[in-house]
Amino acid sequence: MDKLLITGGNPLAGEVRISGSKNSGLPILAATLLADSPMHVCNLPHLNDITTMLALLRCMGVGVTIDEKMCVEVDPSSINDYTAPYDLVKTMRASILVLGPILARHGVANVSFPGGCAIGSRPVDIHLRGLEAMGAEITVDEGYIRARSDGRLKGAHIFMDTVTVGGTENLLMAAALADGKTVLENAAREPEVVDLANCLVAMGANIEGIGTDTLTIHGVERLQGCTFSVMPDRIETGTFLTAAAAARGRVLLKDTDAHMLEAVLLKLEEAGAHLNTGPDWIELDMKGNRPRAVNLKTAPYPAFPTDMQAQFTAMNAVAEGTGTVIETIFENRLIQIHELNRMGADIKLEGNTAIVTGVEVLKGAPVMASDLRASASLVIAGMVAQGETVVDRIYHIDRGYECIEEKLQLIGANIRRVPS
Ligand code: UD1
Repeated sequence: MDKLLITGGNPLAGEVRISGSKNSGLPILAATLLADSPMHVCNLPHLNDITTMLALLRCMGVGVTIDEKMCVEVDPSSINDYTAPYDLVKTMRASILVLGPILARHGVANVSFPGGCAIGSRPVDIHLRGLEAMGAEITVDEGYIRARSDGRLKGAHIFMDTVTVGGTENLLMAAALADGKTVLENAAREPEVVDLANCLVAMGANIEGIGTDTLTIHGVERLQGCTFSVMPDRIETGTFLTAAAAARGRVLLKDTDAHMLEAVLLKLEEAGAHLNTGPDWIELDMKGNRPRAVNLKTAPYPAFPTDMQAQFTAMNAVAEGTGTVIETIFENRLIQIHELNRMGADIKLEGNTAIVTGVEVLKGAPVMASDLRASASLVIAGMVAQGETVVDRIYHIDRGYECIEEKLQLIGANIRRVPS
């Protein structure tokens, strides 16, 4: 298993191109299953999770062709198996996103039940209840969700009692081909949900209220393939910005979009960052200053994203003052603080709140990544620490960050991948 070896203390400055969004690419690849002709999905990041989704499509008999720019042609007409097997689902929970599309298009779907994961229990009850409200019959048998529908799914009025990104996406895709009108209330408004909705519209879906918490979908009989380019990755963008802020550096990020990061940019300004933005770029300059600690609370979009919480905790760990970080989305998503404390951070955990008192210096140490964004926080800490940090279990980071060490080297970090 590879590790990342980081020698901290290098100033971070330079330019990075932001990749396509993982969390938008995954549902959009699932949405190709709704089409009755080939789709072209472009600007996909080259990441393990995307490869897993492509493997999942292939194992169902779907034709997948990839060009050198990670533009993928998906031909869903050759599908011959409606099963998402355990082996793939266990490596990526987002596999559940094929449930709605396969069921809506073919009237039957078997998807291995995703288990919990390091950051929390992550149930899928809202996905299943929504599909049942649309007329699906769902049983759980031998670890598989077995869903059937007698003819087309039926439009329904669905209120989701928790804001769920994946649940909204699954039901949105199912509703696109259902018979009649579906209203999704308390829908997630994350930019990735908007990107998926725009892709569905380009395929011929009829959706009102895109970007709001009430989506009204008038089901259509067929959707056709189209060419769609996925949005930039807002979490990769935020991660590079936060890394530069923690390191008192300066970065220019290209091919990204400041509009989808308002809560994060606001907090970076509060931390002392000077920001400049253009139509597809963001520049952050700390002018050599130490960041100031910030208070934050995660919540569904447009509030501060849970996927940026760990990186800000790492920045607070070396900031001036004390910052309180409250995690409200996942019950176990502050685990990285124990690793940060091993590097000399001063972080106290009280329930879902981390009280982070910034220290002048962190000390490099061997640390272990526990999930995707926690790994990013350890890399940030390693880059600003004195001495060497070895981050183990980096398969987590490879699920979500394209060419992480190459991109960080480009902005001056001393980081390399070493085999164990
Ligand atoms: C997606 C993102 C993930 C991000 C998360 C929250 C992808 C591939 N992943 O995950 O990076 O951290 O949104 O922004 O896009 N819940 C239920 N019942 C359900 C579904 C969810 O109780 O049926 C709860 C979850 O346990 C969690 C909360 O709802 O507490 C939000 O989860 P959700 O938005 O569904 O996360 P994902 O879609 O899995």
